Amino acid sequence: MAAISTSAPAKTILFGEHAVVYGAPAIAVPLKALRVKAIIQPLLASSKSLVFIKGKNTIEQFHIDDLPADNLIKGTFAVFEKETRIRISPFKLTIISKIPIAAGLGSSAAVAVAIIRALGEFSGIKLSKETVSKIAYQSEVIQHGTPSGIDNSVIAYEEPVYFQKGKGITYLPIKKKIHLILADSGERTLTRDVVESVRNCMVRNPSLYQNIFDSIGKITNAAKIALESGNSKQIGELMTQNHTLLKSINVSSPKLDLLIMRANEAGAFGAKLCGGGRGGYMVAISSEENRSKIVEQLHSISPYVFETSVGGE
Ligand code: MEV
Repeated sequence: MAAISTSAPAKTILFGEHAVVYGAPAIAVPLKALRVKAIIQPLLASSKSLVFIKGKNTIEQFHIDDLPADNLIKGTFAVFEKETRIRISPFKLTIISKIPIAAGLGSSAAVAVAIIRALGEFSGIKLSKETVSKIAYQSEVIQHGTPSGIDNSVIAYEEPVYFQKGKGITYLPIKKKIHLILADSGERTLTRDVVESVRNCMVRNPSLYQNIFDSIGKITNAAKIALESGNSKQIGELMTQNHTLLKSINVSSPKLDLLIMRANEAGAFGAKLCGGGRGGYMVAISSEENRSKIVEQLHSISPYVFETSVGGE
């Protein structure tokens, strides 16, 4: 059997992170150019399955049996076997990811989705997007404890989504192209830790937090209409309002706030942190004309900046 190669994209949340864990709606889009690749090849029946993780200048190698149960790769493999009731024959799996870890871009869900797609093809079964998303969700549960399900959904479906926990996903058609600029704060905090710290605050002050999450939900619903009609200026204003509320629950950082301020000064329609926060990436929305000025400003204070566009296809 020739090697099987699959991949999965990164994502950015445009509206509603954290609030989505408590039932508010959220909107996310796939970042199709930024991907993780999974390559799988068969090994002899007597072999132990192997995992290679290729970094920029590194290769790590493991026997899958030796990885701890809460390891992302081992967990995804175990959930796949349990859900599909297929016993996978020995393999060599190579993971090559361009998605930074703990940066708010969905790297763990993307690794899980790429592996599930590879294991599906390797075992000769056709998995629906829904099944891929469901297996990736369970793998996310092993990683984070209480994921909302938005990351596995937007990554498995590879479409912009309006998502509400327990209600599933709705595709969100973005008819006019919108321009996004993403910049790295260079700081990293695991999503699991930020979500847990928000939960501790919510337990101490439930009515305040519930009000904030309700307000974020209202912003998300207004943003859905603005995205559908392609009103970038209004989308930007709503992003900035969303960021103010994320700041009030203490999930931003001085570096993220600085990047957001610089993007707005350079002419962005608006900007916010994206994902778990306390580091990772911010996302700004811009007109076609202001893109290069914003990128230049962000480059001067961020280790990595990239542009993408969504919609208008
Ligand atoms: C993580 O990408 C987004 C959070 O809302 C957590 C989740 O939805 O599971 C912070």
